[in-house]
Amino acid sequence: MDLQLEGRRAFVSGSTQGIGYAVAAGLAAEGAEVVLNGRDEARVEAAVERLAAAVPGAAVSGLAADFASPAAVQALLARLGEVDILVNNVGVFGLAEFERVPDEEWQRYLEVNLMSAVRLSRALLGGMLARGWGRVVFVGSESGVDVPGDMLPYGVSKAAALALANGLAKLTRGTGVTVTTVLGGPTWSDGVAGTVGQIAEARGVGSDELRAALVAGRPTSLVQRFLDPAEIAHLAVYLASPLSSATNGAAVRADGGVLTTLV
Ligand SMILES: NC(=O)c1ccc[n+]([C@@H]2O[C@H](COP(=O)([O-])OP(=O)(O)OC[C@H]3O[C@@H](n4cnc5c(N)ncnc54)[C@H](OP(=O)(O)O)[C@@H]3O)[C@@H](O)[C@H]2O)c1
Repeated sequence: MDLQLEGRRAFVSGSTQGIGYAVAAGLAAEGAEVVLNGRDEARVEAAVERLAAAVPGAAVSGLAADFASPAAVQALLARLGEVDILVNNVGVFGLAEFERVPDEEWQRYLEVNLMSAVRLSRALLGGMLARGWGRVVFVGSESGVDVPGDMLPYGVSKAAALALANGLAKLTRGTGVTVTTVLGGPTWSDGVAGTVGQIAEARGVGSDELRAALVAGRPTSLVQRFLDPAEIAHLAVYLASPLSSATNGAAVRADGGVLTTLV
């Protein structure tokens, strides 16, 4: 299948590793020009080199910016230029005991997980609408639908991002622009692997043991394993392509079946 991405220009927020990198690699493999992002210049440069080596001939570059800082996002937007495809992937997550989470931490979740997408979409959607074609793809989470009690700042920020994507789609009426969400399930990304490793060390258990316990702790999962970042990326790349033109405003699941509702 030709996903018709040749020559399209894409920006993927938070793409030095994990799901964002997998989405960027998938877009590049389909012929799109890709701009990577992360907080740190050296890590962004390393990811650009890794992707250029993995996809020979790929047009890939990078822009460092911390989405927790509005000024840094402003500076990034001044350098980015127009894109055909915006992937709102960047996100922070972690266990959080509600009564112990201070305002500043809530603010960080909202800045990175929600306001990143607000600021990028506000700057880039208008150009897509004026040119008559574009794709905004959010990397969402089942935690935004079934909010975990021990990850409230994460789940609430992802719920708000779901609402943002659905509302933004209403601004695209009658155009070739779409706004969609990939509703991802538990995925063995670099970030999750690192966090699980740290928790395992703190608890004095093996990382594999904790990984198995986490899978067992999600009995509704139909796949009964962590997903691979590429499994989220495949759906995101399809949604970023012209072939997904009938899907707009929707949150499409790549959750391994953890959500149990009919729709
Ligand atoms: N993993 C899961 O189980 C899962 C499930 C559903 C949805 N998701 C969603 O998928 C997205 C990616 O998650 P992941 O698991 O792939 O994460 P990850 O492995 O931790 O990767 C996060 C990426 O974001 C970048 N990043 C983090 N904070 C940033 C900031 N403030 N500014 C700019 N870049 C930043 C990191 O780059 P640097 O460290 O180089 O700055 C890294 O490239 C998130 O939106 C998450 O909610 C994840």
